[in-house]
Amino acid sequence: MKVETLTLHNFRNYDHCQLALHPGLNILIGKNAQGKTNLLESVHFLSTGRSHRTSSQYDLIRWDTTGFFLHAGVRKRNLKVQIDFSLGADRRRELKINGIVERKLSALLGVLNSVLFTPEDLQLLKGPPALRRRFLDIELSQVSPVYLYTLQQYNRALLQRNNLLRSFDGKATNKIALETWTEQLVRFGVRLTILRQKALAALAKHAEPNLYRISGGEEKLQLVYRPWGYALEFGAGVNETEVTETFRAILEKQHDNELRRRQSLVGPHRDDFVCLLNDIDVREFGSQGQQRSAVLAIKMAELEFMREVTGDYPVLLLDDVLSELDASRRQALLGLVDQGIQTLITGTEANLFTGWQSKSLLIAEITDGIISIVQ
Ligand SMILES: Nc1ncnc2c1ncn2[C@@H]1O[C@H](COP(=O)(O)OP(=O)(O)O)[C@@H](O)[C@H]1O
Ligand SMILES: [Mg+2]
Repeated sequence: MKVETLTLHNFRNYDHCQLALHPGLNILIGKNAQGKTNLLESVHFLSTGRSHRTSSQYDLIRWDTTGFFLHAGVRKRNLKVQIDFSLGADRRRELKINGIVERKLSALLGVLNSVLFTPEDLQLLKGPPALRRRFLDIELSQVSPVYLYTLQQYNRALLQRNNLLRSFDGKATNKIALETWTEQLVRFGVRLTILRQKALAALAKHAEPNLYRISGGEEKLQLVYRPWGYALEFGAGVNETEVTETFRAILEKQHDNELRRRQSLVGPHRDDFVCLLNDIDVREFGSQGQQRSAVLAIKMAELEFMREVTGDYPVLLLDDVLSELDASRRQALLGLVDQGIQTLITGTEANLFTGWQSKSLLIAEITDGIISIVQ
């Protein structure tokens, strides 16, 4: 999948910018606060329907203007897709895919797939579990409409059940309502659990050889799913009956606790996973270098995973990561370009890209929201 053309109008610090991207490597150089991340953010926004930096789309509107517009011309093998998105300060929002108006933003998912890698991602294994759930959600929602649907239904059940628990008075109508929402929680929670378990197994399959390459073949990588925050292992032959029974049994045990704390304490909203290197939890015992290699191996595995599911590599967005990585890890990233993955990579200095230039056909400089093509 390739982004051929990109237009930004009143988006962040861009006034008007139109860019024809190279199908291979695109190097974007600029000092701090010039608009490098903003540019990648625009692609990621068209890909996922949200920004990785703000939960409010209105933050994306260029200050002192009344709305922004984004366009991407995407090529998916032999197919061309046009995406147009605009948002006005008056809350008027319009999304068009191939000229057809789409009411829901989630229509974007799967149209332009991307993997974004930023220095903050280096916290993926060290940071809080919410980070890892978000990672799985963003990746899986792009490639699987079933996943997205299941996640939305689960979140709805969770919200309703939590609302009910907050005002629970123990009366019969409340009890019946609680049972209803518990049924929904279990139904979609079980499906979500199974989808995440399978996705992690598939990711690990690709991350393992990646780590071999990055670390010189010394370490074995495993991703271990921790459903609902518990040290449960369902194994490869995981099935709905087994997960449902376990879910119900734990819910039963936590029943009084949930009433006392007035919130749902069991379910995928508490999911986590750990990464083991040679059977040792990298989060607790890994060096910083090992953690970085493991994150990189997992992020690179996302590309293979998405290709496996969709038949096409996503677009790779690398924001300012080179200065954070040593030579062997940079080399591993550079290898991706040879696999024909369209890459947009940013950095503050041209010399970060020594060894990369020969592979690229687009080098641009970004200054104060203006992009000038160098090569
Ligand atoms: N909505 C906005 N309107 C105008 N400028 C913005 C907006 N949001 C951020 N900026 C500006 O964009 C610049 C940061 O751009 P960014 O892409 O993060 O920089 P970098 O090149 O370091 O990645 C800052 O100067 C910031 O003030
Ligand atoms: Mg930046």
